[in-house]
Amino acid sequence: MFKSDLLKDRVIIITGGGTGLGLAMSRAMTRLGAIMAIGSRNPEHLDQAKKTLAEEGREPFVHPVDVRVPEQVETFIESVYQHFGRIDGLINNAAGNFLCPSAELTPNGFRTIVDIVLNGSFYCSLYAGQKMLEQKSGVILNIVTTYIETGSPYVLPSACAKAGVAAMTRSLAVEWGPYGIRVNAIAPGPIPTKGAWSRLMLDPAFEKAMLKGIPLRRVGKPEELAHVAVFLMSDLASYINGEIVFMDGGMWLRSGAMFANLEGFEDIMRAMRPRKK
Ligand code: HXC
Ligand code: NAP
Repeated sequence: MFKSDLLKDRVIIITGGGTGLGLAMSRAMTRLGAIMAIGSRNPEHLDQAKKTLAEEGREPFVHPVDVRVPEQVETFIESVYQHFGRIDGLINNAAGNFLCPSAELTPNGFRTIVDIVLNGSFYCSLYAGQKMLEQKSGVILNIVTTYIETGSPYVLPSACAKAGVAAMTRSLAVEWGPYGIRVNAIAPGPIPTKGAWSRLMLDPAFEKAMLKGIPLRRVGKPEELAHVAVFLMSDLASYINGEIVFMDGGMWLRSGAMFANLEGFEDIMRAMRPRKK
């Protein structure tokens, strides 16, 4: 679907690009010519990214960073800028999450997730955004979740933080649009990754129950997310700004659809239908 030079030589920073969905996006973008600059905490994840992307044709620039620490984020972004002389894109993908009854959260548990997801995305947007404002060009993509609209029990810190990132997406799209910077987000539904599944699908029964709520009756695939991310980061989406693309097989819409649970009761509906004499 995409031309092989769609992202040729674009310098794209991605946080958490060494695992799961971040790695899938990095691979797809590398294949289309981008130069990925990956930041995350664990050196093993950075090594994995180097190896995987080299196989796709171009080694990424990697740098250890904890997005909770603004000084580390500034150093990471500055080193990418010094190395390449520009920053064409930023993907705020790093996240933390766990399942916990809300009344049993600790202040530090709540703070940890908000620090990674909301504050970390802000620090990256701040320092990369300053460079993009100077250049008068750039694209920012935030990875949020569908429960930015509905909230969700048992993942309260993540729900609050991701809703904040959604607000940041729309706010910066308007404020930085006049400077040639587009800011969008993707809200994925469930997509199996080691990071997410080990923390959120604590029992196979969880996944089975969840599938019933997805109209397409399956979970998503990392490459499906990568396709949307490539599109939004590319010039194909040059007039899309401030948009949040939901890709969840229709799951969140169903959760608020009043009669969705009547699936299987169609015969009763048919019996109520007036018959023509
Ligand atoms: C309750 C918990 C907890 C749990 C940690 N905490 N896990 N509380 N239940 N399961 C609390 C700790 O007790 C501590 O508070 C505080 O959180 C910080 O914990 P640490 O282990 O010290 O933090 P740290 O080592 O910095 O690790 C951060 C982390 C970890 C978020 C807890 O899981 C991590 O590194 N995650 C990164 C990757 C990730 O989470 N990927 C999944 C993204 S999936 P106290 O008070 O005890 O000090 C995703 C999908 C969304 O976002 C949508 C799905 C459909
Ligand atoms: P994942 O593999 O656990 O990815 C999280 C990444 O964030 C890791 O690479 C991790 O790398 C990095 N990270 C965590 N804390 C960090 C910190 N303090 N500083 C820097 N980097 C940090 O999970 P995933 O499923 O691919 O999730 C990727 C994104 O998709 C997240 O934003 C998540 O919320 C979103 N999402 C996922 C799903 C899903 O079903 N999988 C659904 C909706 C949204 P290090 O450990 O090396 O730091």
